[in-house]
Amino acid sequence: MAMPKALVLKPLPEEAKRTIRERCELIEPKEMPLSREQLLIEIADVEGLLTNDVRIDSELLNAAKKLRVVSNQSVGYDNFDVAAMKECGVIGTHTPYVLDDTVADLVFALMLAAARRVPELDAQVKQGRWGEPGCGGEAHYGIDVHHATLGIVGMGRIGEAVARRASLGFGMNVLYSGRSRKPAAEHVYGAQYRTLDELLEQADFVVVIAPYTPETARMIRAEHFARMKPTAVFVNASRGQLVEEGALVEALRSGRIFAAGLDVYETEPVKAGHPLLALPNVVTLPHIGSATAKTRHDMAMTAANNLVGGLLNDRPIHIVSELQHLRKG
Ligand code: DGY
Repeated sequence: MAMPKALVLKPLPEEAKRTIRERCELIEPKEMPLSREQLLIEIADVEGLLTNDVRIDSELLNAAKKLRVVSNQSVGYDNFDVAAMKECGVIGTHTPYVLDDTVADLVFALMLAAARRVPELDAQVKQGRWGEPGCGGEAHYGIDVHHATLGIVGMGRIGEAVARRASLGFGMNVLYSGRSRKPAAEHVYGAQYRTLDELLEQADFVVVIAPYTPETARMIRAEHFARMKPTAVFVNASRGQLVEEGALVEALRSGRIFAAGLDVYETEPVKAGHPLLALPNVVTLPHIGSATAKTRHDMAMTAANNLVGGLLNDRPIHIVSELQHLRKG
């Protein structure tokens, strides 16, 4: 029997490629990224696709009559039009669990760097300005992270990993908001449920770590920054689309909040000249929440196994919740 064809649009480690090649015909375009036009041609003949940023919508699905499985090499799957996939019977998978602690570490890196002004002061030292009056003095004082109040917007697996660090490591008081109560986090980390408005008013650190869905799009706007403390540090490590970026710029520029730590943006990559980049009180990273060698390797292996398991229907795979009913057997 012919092996199913799988189009791979992400660079993978050899071990992940081997996993795919054992059971599938692996197709890698010579030049990446593929234009949308080229993709719509290439997709016509394949049963599997591995990506994390291609928009899986009706246009693509119409061009992909043989497609059965899309394996996302990420935990987020906001590139999936799940309704269109459901209609076409196309399974979508993602890579949960393996990145939870790595992303939670990065959330803390952003909290600490923004609160203690690490990039700003690092730049001064490197520019030879340590001896200048004021360097590292009162004008550069930061905000304590330890024993402060942390507000987690979206207490999923990554939110819980953040709560663990906050509660057990930094002695923080943990608040959270979200669609549902999390009794385990309340019990183990003393996390207290709040409405979003209450959380914004009470937290010293506001961390957004919810998935991007129609319900969470632009959930943090000017009126939300207006509720935060002037000493608040705002961190976003989920998706830029959850935040009205213009309102964030204004809150930072006007001193409405103290600082922000960002791994994600409305449009990525952020273009030179974006107003956020001129602000000293924002720490900016290039969407690297899961970017450690081990975690990226584990994500690649999970994505490869999901692809093969989905196409051959013979191993457990991580199907996104909205499409789980499509799995046969
Ligand atoms: C994820 O896995 O969703 C991370 O944001 C990387 O894309």
